Amino acid sequence: MPAVLITGAQWGDEGKGRATDLLGSRVDYVVKFNGGNNAGHTVVVGEEKYALHLLPSGILTPGVVPVIGNGVVVDLGVLQQELDALSSRGVDVSRLRVSANAHVITAYHRTLDKVTERFLGKRQIGTTGRGIGPAYADKINRVGIRIQDIFDESILRQKVEAALEFKNQVLVKIYNRRAIEADEVIADLLSFREMLEPMVCDTGLLLHRAMRDDRTVLFEAGQATMLDIDHGTYPFVTSSNATAGGASTGSGLPPHQLDRIIAVIKAYTTRVGAGPFPTELFDENGEHLAQVGHEYGTTTGRPRRCGWYDAPIARYAARINGVTDFVLTKLDVLSGLDTIPVCVAYDVNGVRHDEMPVNQSDFHHAKPVYEEFPGWSEDISGARRFEELPKNAQDYILALEAMSGSRISAIGVGPEREQVVVRHDLLG
Ligand code: GDP
Ligand code: IMO
Ligand code: MG
Repeated sequence: MPAVLITGAQWGDEGKGRATDLLGSRVDYVVKFNGGNNAGHTVVVGEEKYALHLLPSGILTPGVVPVIGNGVVVDLGVLQQELDALSSRGVDVSRLRVSANAHVITAYHRTLDKVTERFLGKRQIGTTGRGIGPAYADKINRVGIRIQDIFDESILRQKVEAALEFKNQVLVKIYNRRAIEADEVIADLLSFREMLEPMVCDTGLLLHRAMRDDRTVLFEAGQATMLDIDHGTYPFVTSSNATAGGASTGSGLPPHQLDRIIAVIKAYTTRVGAGPFPTELFDENGEHLAQVGHEYGTTTGRPRRCGWYDAPIARYAARINGVTDFVLTKLDVLSGLDTIPVCVAYDVNGVRHDEMPVNQSDFHHAKPVYEEFPGWSEDISGARRFEELPKNAQDYILALEAMSGSRISAIGVGPEREQVVVRHDLLG
């Protein structure tokens, strides 16, 4: 089983980090191929809780080679902080490899992210403010700075000066902010040269050789299907491809090499930031999900919006990614509810939609068509086999499986490493 992808089926925070950790030592390489430190993955190992943003969660597994691919945007200050924090807790980070072609997030990207959001007022996206969108915009505009530029000071200077010539006009004249000094940006980037030296390489070649040698490579997406720049709820999305296709462009491995595509999906739905969310709840059930599920963002600490499971979204994710397996997380959070509604279709101005409507206004106006399932009151966190789950929980899973477009191979019944029910081997 050489190459496996893990992505999110919903709007992020499905438990991708946790799913990566589940595969643990059976994987040789873990590759981040999109996004940057807008991601937030929480992994609980025994008494230890790790919150990772930029680094792939696979860094926690001894022996794994973590890789930051060319599709990632890297804030070097954050990279240094995360590496230092992990080292001080005894995690070996020496194997990390970073693509020479990955773009960097600089001070002007962070500033522009914040000021453009403020400028948008009530039309704002609710970004994480980490400079992600502006860094990707520069990449597409062909005025970005890549990691390899840091190793050639004169090229770096030319590129930073060229970028700032335009950006400073925008910052000063439109946003009424002070101009950013090229010298400061350059000095900041150069200060990471020594840290980067041993890590930077041609990660595409590294992964090609890994595949040739029959190593197992795991791709770990940041964000998720509904936040994907092409397939998500645009413009309320992130600025990269979190779906399966992104793994190829963001790493340099050809698409046919992906054998297994795993989408992590919560047993209900959450979303951070603005944008449409048909099953969103504003009542005590929403409160239940938020409180019991501890639904606060790992990156920004913002409360996550909560709602019921949305099967059209699951089917959409299955189709867009070519999902072979779902990992259903946080089933334990539903314990104690009398009935559990599941959205099976949408009603848009009296017309039933079984699939995601193509028109954004239709999705904004979509009213969920619910089917109700009986709940269970038992604590399920100790279950390790499907048969150990209450009958109603089993039926809930089987119903989701029937309507979601792929099999549900593992079920999270608690945040800890071993709190999982495995029905089908994710690598076998
Ligand atoms: P990611 O961004 O997809 O990696 O997910 P996050 O780490 O941002 O959010 C998922 C949260 O759910 C984390 O706090 C996990 O510890 C927690 N979690 C994951 N799986 C389960 C589960 O099955 N049950 C419970 N109760 N919590 C879980
Ligand atoms: P993980 O990997 C949840 C959301 C932000 C905002 C939108 C754009 O932990 O699942 P950005 O800063 O990326 O330009 O913000 O995307 N967002 C996430 N929501 N989980 C994430 O990552 C997210 N990364 C970005 O809240 O609505
Ligand atoms: Mg997260």
